[in-house]
Amino acid sequence: MDVIIRSDYEQMSLYTANRIAELVRKKPDCVLGLATGGTPIGTYRELIRKHREEGLCFSKVRTFNLDEYLGIGFNPEQPYSADQSYARFMHEELFRHIDILPENTRVPDGLSDNPEEFCKHYEKAIREAGGIDLQLLGIGGDGHWAFNEPGSSLASRTRIETLTRQTLDDNYELFYRAAGFLREDMPHFAITMGIGTILEAKSILMIANGKKKANVVRQAIEGPVTSQITASAIQLYAGKATVVLDEEAASELKNIDHYRHCEKVIAS
Ligand code: F6R
Repeated sequence: MDVIIRSDYEQMSLYTANRIAELVRKKPDCVLGLATGGTPIGTYRELIRKHREEGLCFSKVRTFNLDEYLGIGFNPEQPYSADQSYARFMHEELFRHIDILPENTRVPDGLSDNPEEFCKHYEKAIREAGGIDLQLLGIGGDGHWAFNEPGSSLASRTRIETLTRQTLDDNYELFYRAAGFLREDMPHFAITMGIGTILEAKSILMIANGKKKANVVRQAIEGPVTSQITASAIQLYAGKATVVLDEEAASELKNIDHYRHCEKVIAS
């Protein structure tokens, strides 16, 4: 696993967007696994800038998002409704600003009338696309990847998961409060790719910023592999994994000097 440390959120986002852009240029029909949340917003803004100013082309790119709340969804024909779906988030923060084809973007369907069946179908769609070339991941305050909450099997597949109180609190503050929702109105369930699904991606980019993430990042990459911190599954990953952090999120790492040394040696 490579650990890349950048001075701040902007630099972390720039590095991450550069890595994604590099793949899109090399393989224009690549399959990207995408995340929502506060962390990737800077990365998406930089990708949008690259599209507008450098002609980065997404017309053949296909995407699969990690997760979606169960019971809500986004209808592009009613773009101004107040739903807080991850499908809306992706539309607002990335898809509508670039030349990606809507039919090439997949977010789990929170409104499916048969969610269990949908989960199987999602796995199949990922396989039929040839698998995910690069999976972008954040890390939750409770150490989750996607919505794989503590106790999720590290071999889990796409399924319905019950959200922890901490996740509901974190996401309420970020998204729901501003939209005028009450905490008790938030969905308690989500469809999520499993840890086993994520570990099949051909490469992984995990990003985190801010002091609030420092402890959980340390546990995930330097602590024991445990289903209590599902992001610790990165230590089991056999492909190319890169963790991109700002200084604050990296501040509790024991091996920080080694990570910096590795980056210097590899660059030279
Ligand atoms: C979202 C997702 C989540 C977030 C995590 C961190 O699709 O998969 O696991 O990556 O909750 O969220 P932020 O970035 O808001 O701190």
